[in-house]
Order: sequence, then C-alpha cells, then structure tokens
Amino acid sequence: MKFFVDTAEIDQIAELNELGMVDGVTTNPSLIMKSGRDITEVTKEICELISGPVSAEVTATKADGMIAEGLKLAEIAENIAVKVPLTWDGLKACKELRKEKLMVNVTLCFSANQALLAAKAGATFVSPFLGRLDDINLDGIALIDDIRCIYDNYGFETEILAASIRTVNHVLECARIGADVMTAPPKVIRNLANHPLTDQGLAVFLADIEKTGQKIL
Ligand code: E4P
Repeated sequence: MKFFVDTAEIDQIAELNELGMVDGVTTNPSLIMKSGRDITEVTKEICELISGPVSAEVTATKADGMIAEGLKLAEIAENIAVKVPLTWDGLKACKELRKEKLMVNVTLCFSANQALLAAKAGATFVSPFLGRLDDINLDGIALIDDIRCIYDNYGFETEILAASIRTVNHVLECARIGADVMTAPPKVIRNLANHPLTDQGLAVFLADIEKTGQKIL
C-alpha cells in the first residue's frame, strides 16, 4: 500500500520523506489555509521535494472552471494530480483533464456508486473519506471494501486512495482490504510505530543491561 501524507506542512513532509515513508502528498483547501501559505508556492515546494503524485484541489464548482483551474495547477509541476470533487461537474472535469493526460484525484467520495462513476470517468485516484463517515456513525471501512470489490469485479484501474484516515486501525483495515493508497496526517503515520509492549520491552532491556554495567560504546 502506498503512503501519501495529508498535509501542506513542508517540514513534516520532509521529515517523513527522509525515512522513505512518502509515496505522494494530498492537500486540500483546508490544509492550505492551515499552513498559512500561498497555494501555488507551497504546492511547488512540495512537488520539488516529492517525486510521487501531489494532489492540489480546484475551487471552482462548474466543470469549465475546474478544467481551467486544473490546467493552471498542472503547470506547477509534472507530478501534480488535480483534485476535483465528486459532483457531476467534477466528473466532467475529470474526463476532460484525463484527455490532457493529467492525473486526476476525485475527492469527497462517500458512496460506492460515486466511486463507480469516478472509475468510469477515468479517474487516476478516487478518495473515499473514511473518518468523516465514521464521524456520523456510518462504516467507512465497509465503503473501502465495497469499492475494492466493485473495481476488482470489472478491472477498473482507478486507484483507491483511502482518505480522512484518523487512526492506526484505519490504516490496518485499509491494508487488509487492499486499498491501493492511504493518505494520513503525519501524526497517524508516526503512530504506526508505537506499541506499549515495545516501550515496556525496551525499558526492561535497558534496565537489565545497566545492571551488568556493560556499554557497547
Ligand atoms: C484527502 O485527500 C483529504 O485531504 C483528507 O484526507 C480529509 O481528511 P479529514 O476528513 O480529516 O479532513
């Protein structure tokens, strides 16, 4: 499963990238606002740092506007994936931008039928939002499972990009189901390394070696 980082914070992307944990980056208008940066400048910096796909989201709501914005965002770098919302206009824009050979990430997907439409429109990625479904007591993981089943039934090549990941369990379940990509905030990716038994075991090992008075260096 590929790891994308869901942030526009350059330092955090760089830190994870040094460990080989970053196959791509996703941003959205809220993450750009949070960064306090100019969308074009920060997206360019991210694209210079990361060779994988970097999603940058359009803000127009009509297909023509989305296409124009998508083409402009794509001028930033070759690894831009234009992010469009899963609306009828977004699907139209997806189809047109794909004709221009651009990567397109169809975002804000909350149902398997929406994901089916994204695949038929030729999306490079579809982004089902797990956490936001869980927030309203719906089953985000079941959605990923349904999309995996449907895409495999018909051999769709659109990659399932599990988004709105909030917990390490989301990551585990997505990997089990076979999501192609997951995008998570840096904190969730770092938390994947944590286990209380690792901490306990390490404390005992360190205490025991100290009792022997030995040092390696
Ligand atoms: C994905 O591309 C989105 O930017 C993101 O995962 C949304 O996550 P949130 O629901 O935690 O805002």
